[in-house]
Amino acid sequence: ARIRYYKWDVKYEYKSPDCYKKLAITINGGTPGPTILAQQGDTVIVEVKNNLMLENLAIHWHGIRQIGTPGMDGTEGVTQCPILPGDTFKYEFKVDRPGTYLYHAHYGMQREAGLYGSIRVSLPDGETEPFAYDYDRSIILNDWYHKSTYEQATGLNSLPFVWVGEPQSLLIQGRGKFNCSSAPSAPGVCNASNPECSPYVMIVIPGKTYRLRVASLTALSALSFQIEGHNMTVVEADGHYVEPFVVKNLFIYSGETYSVLIKADQDPSRNYWMTTNVVGRLPNTTAGLAILNYYPNHLRRSPPTTPPAGPIWNDTAPRLAQSQAIKARQGFISTPPATSDRTIVFLNTQNLVNGYTRWAVNKVSFTLPHTPYLVAEKYHLRHVFNQSSPPNGYDFQNYDIYSANKTNATLNDAIYRLQFNSTVDIILQNANSMTNNTSETHPWHLHGHDFWVLGYGTGKFDIYNDPRNYNLVNPIMKNTVPVHRYGWTALRFKADNPGVWLFHCHIESHFHMGMGVVFEEGIEKVGNLPSSILGCGESKGLGKP
Ligand code: C2O
Ligand code: CU
Repeated sequence: ARIRYYKWDVKYEYKSPDCYKKLAITINGGTPGPTILAQQGDTVIVEVKNNLMLENLAIHWHGIRQIGTPGMDGTEGVTQCPILPGDTFKYEFKVDRPGTYLYHAHYGMQREAGLYGSIRVSLPDGETEPFAYDYDRSIILNDWYHKSTYEQATGLNSLPFVWVGEPQSLLIQGRGKFNCSSAPSAPGVCNASNPECSPYVMIVIPGKTYRLRVASLTALSALSFQIEGHNMTVVEADGHYVEPFVVKNLFIYSGETYSVLIKADQDPSRNYWMTTNVVGRLPNTTAGLAILNYYPNHLRRSPPTTPPAGPIWNDTAPRLAQSQAIKARQGFISTPPATSDRTIVFLNTQNLVNGYTRWAVNKVSFTLPHTPYLVAEKYHLRHVFNQSSPPNGYDFQNYDIYSANKTNATLNDAIYRLQFNSTVDIILQNANSMTNNTSETHPWHLHGHDFWVLGYGTGKFDIYNDPRNYNLVNPIMKNTVPVHRYGWTALRFKADNPGVWLFHCHIESHFHMGMGVVFEEGIEKVGNLPSSILGCGESKGLGKP
């Protein structure tokens, strides 16, 4: 095992990823940032210098479980104090499994300002994947807003509420195309011929097979990803091998990663479109476009066709079907415990809290304390957040998931304490938002663990009958999972990673509006915390010898 050392300079710069110039957060001058390449068992060290000047920072390693290093999860308010402007922070953690992972800012809404990238962990020398391919490529899909994160966050926290709206463009590997003619006429702000916004090009050699690692870090959008004329065979999801299945379009939610195999077996005399389209919400954003270039055609030659249209945005059935099709690969199945010790039901609702629009689970809208939970728990600082237990479920009998929600929620920073090494089931129950006939898709992401995906269903979860249909034979393990419109998703995990872990909707604005919870497990087994994570709130002066 080796040490992979990275030195990052994080700052604001003017960028035009979709031809429209705005301030973006870059790492060493780029957005997306550099790809972290490592082998299973390696230690990754990233020395981050916060050169944002006026803003704090924290970076999360999405999909890396941080076993034994809970203080390196990079979640501001949960596992660390923010990195102050001018400060340098050293992240150090082990990558213990091969697969496709991500990193992104975890402070405020900085992720959507451009601070994100991929982590690719390969197998140790001499070991091979259970599928064959000639080349390995990665792309990150994203959506992009022209308003700053300050304007967006302020709108979300205001009365009257100002929603962020649909994104201005969709990016593929950091490149998109906003229609400059629809930009307010500010000279020099939108420039359609800026090379920064020329489409991403993936070059393929005819006849070869490509492993394409596709990840989504959208702020809001659920996407359909498609390569004109080419089928994709899904082989990996969130770092776990999938029993291969073929799709024409891949539905992907924020925080998910997939590997698909593509064979360059089409007419080699032309190029093809790679597209992303918004699904699940009425789209108001043009498709994201990239070019699949068949060597030796000219790189930028536009395909002779119009890009394929995306699927119907409000048809949930094919998305649910694709979620259900993802199973663990034969020979690589990790069998879940047959039963669980505890079941927690999370009803996802949109509510008012003192007139403000928020998201809540079990009518509790999450807020972060000023002292990170990990520090508060380790040092028994019981007064820094609410010590009561948040609700384990909701009133099934009386809650109608199909009508517009009229109930209020409350703000709370209490956490769920899980018994160390116990098996926990989580049922994520979706419902109608505060608007009639609207139920949104929420991708939930768990820090510090992978979970088994036991099942998906539509309607209200039936606690007596639905568990009988759980897949306990070959469930996929993931770290991010969608909860479909008016549906439910059931997960199981072992609370075996000492620390404090965030579980939240990966939609940036939803988490900002309170859609998350925190789990604590085995805090007494957490060793000394690195002093670098201390310093804010009540953690001042702690950890000094
Ligand atoms: Cu990728 Cu808590 O996030
Ligand atoms: Cu959400």
